[in-house]
Amino acid sequence: MTYQIRTASIIDLSSLQKLERACFQLDAWSLFDLVAVLTFPDVIRLKAVVGNHMVGFIAGDPRPSEKMAWVATLGVLPDHQNQGIGKALLETCEQRINHPRIRLCVRPTNLAALGLYTHAGYQTIDRWEDYYNDKGDALVMEKIIF
Ligand SMILES: CC(C)(COP(=O)(O)OP(=O)(O)OC[C@H]1O[C@@H](n2cnc3c(N)ncnc32)[C@H](O)[C@@H]1OP(=O)(O)O)[C@@H](O)C(=O)NCCC(=O)NCCS
Repeated sequence: MTYQIRTASIIDLSSLQKLERACFQLDAWSLFDLVAVLTFPDVIRLKAVVGNHMVGFIAGDPRPSEKMAWVATLGVLPDHQNQGIGKALLETCEQRINHPRIRLCVRPTNLAALGLYTHAGYQTIDRWEDYYNDKGDALVMEKIIF
């Protein structure tokens, strides 16, 4: 089925909550985090939709003072994975971020995300121990866009 990428807003809160629960068993964000990502100024928030149904979401967080931007979250509903939606969300978010240095965090065990990010040009630059709630480590990945 064809999908479209659109800007998300607070009216997507309920859909985003469902998507979070479906995508992130261990790392689902709190309601507060979800409201924040849908409302904080300067955050780039994009949803992939099939019809009016949200099937994917990404948030980009430009931090000019740190001279970089972060991809804060990315998820695609399991039934819609492996169809290029994650890649399209990431590419569109990178374009909207419009910053030459972009970073993100990922579990070293998350092979799907690692595949996506590596193919998209991200390289591991650091490992943060005990980063996640369950004390799992995070790989920090970075992409420099020339
Ligand atoms: C990671 C995630 C967003 C990928 O989304 P997706 O829509 O399935 O990914 P795409 O179909 O766009 O695939 C893009 C690339 O990712 C890689 N990839 C996707 N699934 C993969 C898998 N299971 N194993 C290895 N690589 C994979 C491939 O390299 C693929 O490129 P290719 O088609 O040229 O081979 C999705 O699996 C997801 O939402 N997972 C749960 C939430 C999560 O872990 N988010 C990331 C947190 S850091």
